[in-house]
Amino acid sequence: MKKLFIKTYGCQMNVYDSDRMTDVLAPLGYVPTGTADGADMVILNTCHIREKASEKVFSELGRLRMMKDRARDQQGRDVTIAVAGCVAQAEGEEITRRAPWVDIVVGPQTYHRLPELVTKADPAARHRVIDTEFPEEVKFDSLPGEHAPRGPAAFLSVQEGCDKFCAFCVVPYTRGAEFSRPVNGVLAEARRLVAAGTCEITLLGQNVNAYHGEAADGSSWSLARLIRELAEIDGLTRIRYTTSHPLDMEDDLIMAHRDVPQLMPYLHLPVQSGSDHILTEMNRRHTNDVYLRIIDRLREARPDIAFSGDFIVGFPGERDRDFADTLSLIDKVGYASAYSFKYSPRPGTPAAGSDEQVPEEVKAERLEALQQLINAQQFAFNKRTEGQVMDVLIERNGGRDGQMAGRTPYMQAVNVAADEALLGKIVSCQITEAKQNSVVGVIQ
Ligand code: SAH
Ligand code: SF4
Ligand code: F3S
Repeated sequence: MKKLFIKTYGCQMNVYDSDRMTDVLAPLGYVPTGTADGADMVILNTCHIREKASEKVFSELGRLRMMKDRARDQQGRDVTIAVAGCVAQAEGEEITRRAPWVDIVVGPQTYHRLPELVTKADPAARHRVIDTEFPEEVKFDSLPGEHAPRGPAAFLSVQEGCDKFCAFCVVPYTRGAEFSRPVNGVLAEARRLVAAGTCEITLLGQNVNAYHGEAADGSSWSLARLIRELAEIDGLTRIRYTTSHPLDMEDDLIMAHRDVPQLMPYLHLPVQSGSDHILTEMNRRHTNDVYLRIIDRLREARPDIAFSGDFIVGFPGERDRDFADTLSLIDKVGYASAYSFKYSPRPGTPAAGSDEQVPEEVKAERLEALQQLINAQQFAFNKRTEGQVMDVLIERNGGRDGQMAGRTPYMQAVNVAADEALLGKIVSCQITEAKQNSVVGVIQ
């Protein structure tokens, strides 16, 4: 038995990929462990989206170098260090140059080859391997059918890559062209998950609503069609999907929100900015009106639907009045939560070269103002649910004795006084108290 530690950065797709790396390495005798100390192999599954995210990798690699040296000097033991994910894809050569103690560099499209790479790499002989191809073979076909149970709420990647090329974003370069997994593979994985105890599945993709997977009869299925089929699986009580692009929010998907009870009334629909000028500069290819219209139609289809979004402040050329438009859009939508970021120039993206960069202090001020508004909306949303009775999926132990933690249909984190035996069950709870980032529930 060898111990494997994977540290995951970035988005849910990386969380899914880390689980799959564990599955791929299991036949070689690798068993997951909770810390890097004492591990025989450490994988950093990295994110390149903002500068901070990718710089973290190099500082973590510094720590791992010391750990590796200690293991060798004190115990005569070799630790294999691998860098996977989007930084590996974008900066593979740079990693081996700056951190020559890294044994394996593997991109998001080639981690199914890890067993081969592990065999080839030889930490004792300092033989390194890099694999950051965009391969001909489809990764998903090469991943093992068997996988470890993933708990009550699981991720399932159905689509990868992106052809949208927003001017700020590295994803089209790190994850490659858009690809949809064929329907049968997705359904088989969903059925296995449910058989292993999962009752909530979040379908993942960088642009998940652009899904167009091939079905057994050769036809192409939309995400809505796939969701309707998944809803037929007995025991799959909750379906979610993320992340969506407004331009791919087709009618059939909006209608699925009306028709499919398992589809949860919560949608992450990033808009990035509320200014048409900035949206154009970002190459988002829709206006603020188009976005608001989609929100309206979703609310008509499913009146209780709640939204979250992503916002970037300080994109090159963003003026005070553009930022004011973003605040005004947030006001109009009323989010249940949202993520917001200072624009971070990324190598190789068009916006990084703009000479209209916004000063750091202005970005910081705008971020602060935007987060205040979002926090107020999130608290107001939580407050409105006080007194309501809703289904809560109990997902894990809470912080304290006798406490369990779960999620409402609206993705609110709930703390409930409950027995551990309720893990993985859906219980009816009354929301008794709203907090900023969570609510308290009492089982009915
Ligand atoms: N596919 C998703 C987003 C993936 S990246 C979509 O189209 O919405 C997740 C979020 O990171 C983005 O929504 C954006 O808000 C943020 N982001 C991406 N690139 C960024 C950059 N260069 N600087 C700051 N934030 C960025
Ligand atoms: Fe990045 Fe835009 Fe593609 Fe989203 S749609 S992954 S923000 S390029
Ligand atoms: Fe990061 Fe790659 Fe996801 S850059 S956000 S880990 S797709």
